[in-house]
Amino acid sequence: MAADDQPPKRSTGFGYYRPEAVAPTRVGSAGACAPPGAHVPAAAGAKGPGTTAEPAGPADPADGVLADDAVLDLSTDSARRDVDETLERLDRELVGLAGVKRRVREIAALLLVDRARSRFGLNSSRPTLHMSFTGGPGTGKTTVALRMAEMLHAMGYIRQPKVLSVTRDDLVGQFIGHTAPKTKAIIAKAAGGVLFIDEAYYLFRPENERDYGQEVIEILLQEMESERASLVVIFAGYPDRMDTFFSANPGLSSRVPHHIAFDDYDHGQLVEIAELMVAAENFRFDDGGREAFSRYLELRMARPRFSNARSVRNAIERCRLRQARRLVELHRPLTRTDLITLTAQDVYGSSVFGSDSTPDGPARAPAADISAADPRLAVPS
Ligand SMILES: Nc1ncnc2c1ncn2[C@@H]1O[C@H](COP(=O)(O)OP(=O)(O)OP(=O)(O)O)[C@@H](O)[C@H]1O
Ligand SMILES: [Mg+2]
Repeated sequence: MAADDQPPKRSTGFGYYRPEAVAPTRVGSAGACAPPGAHVPAAAGAKGPGTTAEPAGPADPADGVLADDAVLDLSTDSARRDVDETLERLDRELVGLAGVKRRVREIAALLLVDRARSRFGLNSSRPTLHMSFTGGPGTGKTTVALRMAEMLHAMGYIRQPKVLSVTRDDLVGQFIGHTAPKTKAIIAKAAGGVLFIDEAYYLFRPENERDYGQEVIEILLQEMESERASLVVIFAGYPDRMDTFFSANPGLSSRVPHHIAFDDYDHGQLVEIAELMVAAENFRFDDGGREAFSRYLELRMARPRFSNARSVRNAIERCRLRQARRLVELHRPLTRTDLITLTAQDVYGSSVFGSDSTPDGPARAPAADISAADPRLAVPS
């Protein structure tokens, strides 16, 4: 049987159907092709919005290869609708981050065009999408990783919109011979999704020649290259240390084509973030409360261990505590307005307006806490 006559194959293990895995059905063979010049939907076989069970591939092999002069309408690709939804959510829920949002859109466009190319039988390698997210604490790295996983899943690049968040301790063993199995177990657990390595630079300890972190890096290098695990690795951490980490590990750096920088938020953005967070919890600031919170942020930004949006979230939690205490002490029936309103009094109770106390808890929340807030973010047990 000639290669052209073989039934289309789907690659195993990947939600992403590689162009070369789709046997081209030649122009003119029965029924499978669009006629020359035909205007066809981009991925007729793709799933509708909200579907999570099976990712959509770049092309449905059943559709065959399009004629050279066919026209493909990208707007009808149903995976695109899923992706647009994720991108809109990113815009709606995250203030600022213009550069980050642009990169996410670019990656979505790359995959969309790759799907379109495969419909024409244009072979190319699976795009490499390992990434690094660098930015200060609370700048949205983990949150964007979750959205990225959703987007990659909608495009059929990964099998599930899952992020496994790990740190050095999850990968490195304490004794000789323990690191490789530990790392491989984590890779197996993350397979088909995103492996998010937080504070990745702790894997590299140049001062200790026999540090097991180096073994982790070597295993990761192989896995990132091989595609076996159908895994996207995101290395995350603070900018300066990440720069040092990548320059000390050029092999790793060359396998990470997407470096995405998360800037600190300015005061105006933090105020906007506060409004979003408060509204998401069915609260609102009254005018005095809004002004007081803006003032709070000015002071808090200048103090140690300021953690961008995470500090905003912590501060709002404490405002809610003070509001609750204030309401209980009113000793009168409460209105809906009472229950939703955060006032200046609820803000000015903060120690930031005093002189000597510590304003926030830990600058960085433990990974387990973050994942508890979002069930899609798994942490190794
Ligand atoms: N641009 C933003 N708009 C609205 N909320 C945001 C934004 N950035 C972050 N947040 C919120 O702030 C909190 C912290 O964000 P996230 O955990 O993603 O930051 P991070 O960069 O991973 O922090 P860390 O480096 O400390 O792990 C989350 O509740 C997140 O939803
Ligand atoms: Mg994080």
